Amino acid sequence: MLRTHTCGQLSEKLEGETVTLCGWVDSYRDHGGGLFVDLRDRYGITQVVFNPPDSTSEVIEASKSLRAEYVIRVTGKVAPRPEGMANKRLATGAIELRATTLELLNKCLTPPVSPSSDEAPGEDLRLKYRYLDLRRAEMQKTMLLRAALIKDMRDYFAEHDFVDVETPILGRSTPEGARDYLVPSRVHRNMFYALPQSPQLYKQILMIAGYDRYIQVARCFRDEDLRADRQPEFTQLDAEMSFVDSNDVMGIIDGLIAGLAKKHLGIEVATPLPRMTYDEAMERYGHDAPDLRFGMEIVDCTDLAAEAEFRVFHSVATSGGRVRAINAKKGTEQYSRRGIDGLTEFVGEYGAKGLAWFRVEEDGSLNSTIAKNFTPELLKRIGERLNAEPGDLLLFVADSFAVTCKALYALRSKIAREMKLYEPGQMNFSWVVEFPMFERDEEEARWQAMHHPFTAPRDQDLELLDTDPGNCRAKAYDLVVNGYEAGGGTIRIHDNKIQSKVFSLLGIDEETAKDRFGFLLDALQYGAPPHGGIALGIDRCVMLFAQLENIRDCIAFPKTQKATDLMTEAPGEVDAKQLRELAIKLVE
Ligand code: AMO
Ligand code: AMP
Repeated sequence: MLRTHTCGQLSEKLEGETVTLCGWVDSYRDHGGGLFVDLRDRYGITQVVFNPPDSTSEVIEASKSLRAEYVIRVTGKVAPRPEGMANKRLATGAIELRATTLELLNKCLTPPVSPSSDEAPGEDLRLKYRYLDLRRAEMQKTMLLRAALIKDMRDYFAEHDFVDVETPILGRSTPEGARDYLVPSRVHRNMFYALPQSPQLYKQILMIAGYDRYIQVARCFRDEDLRADRQPEFTQLDAEMSFVDSNDVMGIIDGLIAGLAKKHLGIEVATPLPRMTYDEAMERYGHDAPDLRFGMEIVDCTDLAAEAEFRVFHSVATSGGRVRAINAKKGTEQYSRRGIDGLTEFVGEYGAKGLAWFRVEEDGSLNSTIAKNFTPELLKRIGERLNAEPGDLLLFVADSFAVTCKALYALRSKIAREMKLYEPGQMNFSWVVEFPMFERDEEEARWQAMHHPFTAPRDQDLELLDTDPGNCRAKAYDLVVNGYEAGGGTIRIHDNKIQSKVFSLLGIDEETAKDRFGFLLDALQYGAPPHGGIALGIDRCVMLFAQLENIRDCIAFPKTQKATDLMTEAPGEVDAKQLRELAIKLVE
């Protein structure tokens, strides 16, 4: 080793010892007689002093050419800092290193991203110079948390008898609802591998192979529209279990979450985690991943709206639509009339045609430009339904169920953020269960799997596959954290006939099913045990545990929103020779 200690290690206990440190120049200050350098590595920062009499004039002279991010090696004596100069915020703040030798290991150009600064520059610059960005304390903290979470996950599953098995990256398409990334085969002209959207089929096959409990920290690839919580290439903690029902899988994850929350967040999480059905989540929160850190639930007022003379309410309520509302407690303090105009514009982005509102006055009466269209008695009942109190702001959307969900879900999140209805470090973990098996793709007039095509229907809903697929509920469960889907899983179909039926409902004809999933349909006939599993999005879990809002901050080398890597400039062009070998011709 070039060093005897790290930059986070020295303390008063080592006073008087001669040690050698290596690291990057975090900052330097010339105090006339000598130079002070904060030397940084992954472990911390140590103050190095180039001063007589410990440092010779040659060493002091050499130290004066140091600049930010130069890589150096220093030997010196550990000494207490002078009276009153200790820095309590630094682990090494009680001591300094009095340098006797200085070796310049490497220089650094003026860094476009400053690792020593708390302020990060624009993201494009950070991604282009990712090695400098990754030197920043905040990034290192997140990367270390990520590594620790993954290690603890692996340990937990190992303790519970899960076997870590690697599954192929080059394979057949495993559909999870996104486009595939394809890799052309050189050996087999005109043939392609697909990168896995998840290891779904392999892990099911492993259950059929008798491995009983499987986990993998699995890289997944999905060519889909990117958002702040989505990457084209991401990592799952992927698990599968045999001879289980939904409760068993959720139970295993409950234990994992409780352990991780305690160790990494210092939070006691009561288990089993609370559960809510999909229908209830949509009714009360308008979304299948509700943020339960705050209340402000959606309240249905369709029956009351039907009685109103107010045209919009009456017509929507009497023609199969819904009139639903939220009560922003003390919202009149936050939102003036102009503020409400802003909220109206905001819900418009989610398809709402307007936003009806009432302010609750000191005497408890409801006041609004539309109040004249309601009898006092009806206003009173609306107020009671929404638990209205002076100062509250009642906000209504009248529309189809789907639009009221979208608009009120977004509105509820926005108001909670603006009114600070939750604490920065607050965490809420829960399950949403019993998702529909299918959702209707109106454009293509066909059913799509809500989770994936291998999901089992609830036993009591089996018949609905034939009679009413839209109402068929799945043995499915999503782990929801602060309004994010942190993980999702299902019990699988282990009966080849039911699997074929689900394929056909999804419009996958027999021939296509055989071509794409023949190996699974075959395997299901060779002693497939009942089985099920789950995958947690590791990047998202890190984001939530680190209280970050951007998934790119949780990945060492992420892609931009446009799926590019600004450092390596991937994707890139390839040689004509490579294309010829692959029998690929580019179009202009
Ligand atoms: P699912 O598609 O729900 O399930 O994915 C599981 C979890 O992975 C995370 N995730 C993502 N994270 C970052 N970027 C993305 N593009 C992205 N897509 C998904 C989410 C999500 O909850 N095979 C099934 C699991 C199973 O049934 O066992 C699957 O992949 O946190
Ligand atoms: P209008 O009758 O269109 O002038 O609307 C009167 C009030 O009702 C305005 O505050 C609108 O924002 C609101 N409004 C209009 N359409 C809807 C709707 N579909 N849901 C809720 N409020 C609406």
